[in-house]
Amino acid sequence: MGSGGYTVQQSRDVSAAVRSGLIWDLPLRLFHGLLLIATSAAFVTQWLGDAWFGWHRWAGYAVLVLILFRCVWGFCGPRYARFSSFIRGPRQVLATATRLSRVRHQSSLGHNPLGAWMIVVLLLILGSQTLLGLFANDEVSEVGPLVGYVTAHLSHVFAHYHRVLSNFILAAIALHLVAVLYYQWVLKDDLIRPMISGFKAQVPRGLAITSQRLWLALMLLLVAAGAVLALILSAPAVPDLGY
Ligand code: HEM
Ligand code: HEM
Repeated sequence: MGSGGYTVQQSRDVSAAVRSGLIWDLPLRLFHGLLLIATSAAFVTQWLGDAWFGWHRWAGYAVLVLILFRCVWGFCGPRYARFSSFIRGPRQVLATATRLSRVRHQSSLGHNPLGAWMIVVLLLILGSQTLLGLFANDEVSEVGPLVGYVTAHLSHVFAHYHRVLSNFILAAIALHLVAVLYYQWVLKDDLIRPMISGFKAQVPRGLAITSQRLWLALMLLLVAAGAVLALILSAPAVPDLGY
């Protein structure tokens, strides 16, 4: 079993040398904090009205850069950031789901197999939302920067799904928060503090991460930002959509 699904209970059996250790690297924690801010900004700028659309676009670009970064980090980041450390098959997901009571619950070192799929869904729908937005238009005045690549009809279709998906994103975020708070208050398993500090309380010797790969993260972030910028700057001029 990968270390992401490694439970604290099992760790006690393996070694008595259990103490606080670094699990979440700084790039992953910054990713989470910035994703929270950028996604919230994308919603708030829409709710505030047309005058804020420029900021909506920037918030959306930020989400896209962050998701691109996270996808690559899932392959070359430290141990617990890697997809291979927490994505598991249906059997383990089901096993986690049946242990969601206070008595049966076992704390995980990384993401647990059930929460992992929630994370994959969040990354997928947020990524898709930004891509749809790039080609969308609001039939009044606001357009995404890549509308020049598609017909007016297709741009309307993308805008439709951009609106639909925004509701799914709100529902997924609500579920994410309910799940985190359930762990916090009902299962008495503190997931929030480690996502801020990086440290978990009970980590057996040898299972904490020793390098956060900060330079690699910075380089990947710059490449992701550069790729998004190049995509936008190289787009054809916005065509006349008839309004
Ligand atoms: C727009 C709002 C939010 C979004 C889009 C979001 C998204 C995510 C994502 C993608 C991850 C996976 C991290 C990774 O491995 O890359 C995650 C994990 C996590 N999030 Fe959020 N999050 C949001 C808000 C919050 C808030 C407000 C809290 C605190 C109350 C929170 C607490 C956590 C915790 C504790 C984890 C780690 C779960 C675990 O240990 O398995 N999130 N979130
Ligand atoms: C995760 C990132 C994003 C979120 C959460 C988001 C969310 C939203 C929401 C809630 C609306 C209003 C839908 C409605 O009127 O009911 C909207 C509209 C729009 N967004 Fe985004 N958006 C994101 C990214 C982007 C990006 C990257 C672009 C392009 C640069 C973009 C372009 C647009 C456009 C053109 C509209 C108007 C579409 C219409 O009203 O039919 N969005 N977005």
